[in-house]
Amino acid sequence: MIYQRKSIRSYKPEPVSDEMNEKIRQFADYIVPLFPNLKMRYEIVDRKSVHSLLPWLPPQLIAVYAQEGDDSLMNVGFMIQQLELFLESDGLGTCWIGLGRPNKETKTLDGLRFVIYLAYGYPNCELYRKSLSEFNRRPMNEISDVDDKRLECARLAPSACNSQPWYFIHSDEKICVYRSSNIIIGKTPIAYFNNIDIGIALAHIYLSYEGVKFSIDALPPKKQGYKYMISITMP
Ligand SMILES: Cc1cc2nc3c(=O)[nH]c(=O)nc-3n(C[C@H](O)[C@H](O)[C@H](O)COP(=O)(O)O)c2cc1C
Repeated sequence: MIYQRKSIRSYKPEPVSDEMNEKIRQFADYIVPLFPNLKMRYEIVDRKSVHSLLPWLPPQLIAVYAQEGDDSLMNVGFMIQQLELFLESDGLGTCWIGLGRPNKETKTLDGLRFVIYLAYGYPNCELYRKSLSEFNRRPMNEISDVDDKRLECARLAPSACNSQPWYFIHSDEKICVYRSSNIIIGKTPIAYFNNIDIGIALAHIYLSYEGVKFSIDALPPKKQGYKYMISITMP
């Protein structure tokens, strides 16, 4: 799915079957967290409860809730991307939706704050990319200090406004992961969403290689204009 997926912005009008929605709820038990101590919850909501100017939203969306902070948002990206890939593998279209917010009643869940939506539904267009050339992404030399084929899965990850805020620095046995700290779209800084993007890229790495471990370094190399997020150890 990592090498074929794309955001879907055209959906059939019928809602997803009850059986599939039950699978989505149960999938929560199989999602691996990046930070097990941070809480994340999601629920299926009706499009009617979503304030958004996007005219093509499907009948249902997944509303995601979590604690505050960069690590928590990274955790959301890491966990919900596992769900995204699962839905796509089961024939459903998906699209992360930053441009939407819930009404007052659904702003919190179990004390957690609303973070983002994942739109999902029966696609009304081609579900998968046919070749890698259809990905519009930065080349490896713009996102990593070393031409490292293992990072190809992260290079192809989806991100808010396709901003691809990640940078990878190889240091000893580890790969340090950075987020660009100054991406502005229109007049809006999108660091909030870029934290989620980093988690999404980490999910692609985690799912691609057995035995990947994550840790936080006390003294990582510095990079101007970037914030250090986490380090990866690959076997
Ligand atoms: C955190 C996040 C928020 C996003 N918000 C929106 C959105 O509000 N509307 C939209 O059409 N696409 C949204 N996207 C989808 C991106 O535009 C898309 O992933 C990116 O352009 C790369 O394209 P691809 O997913 O087809 O590979 C979002 C993606 C992410 C990761």
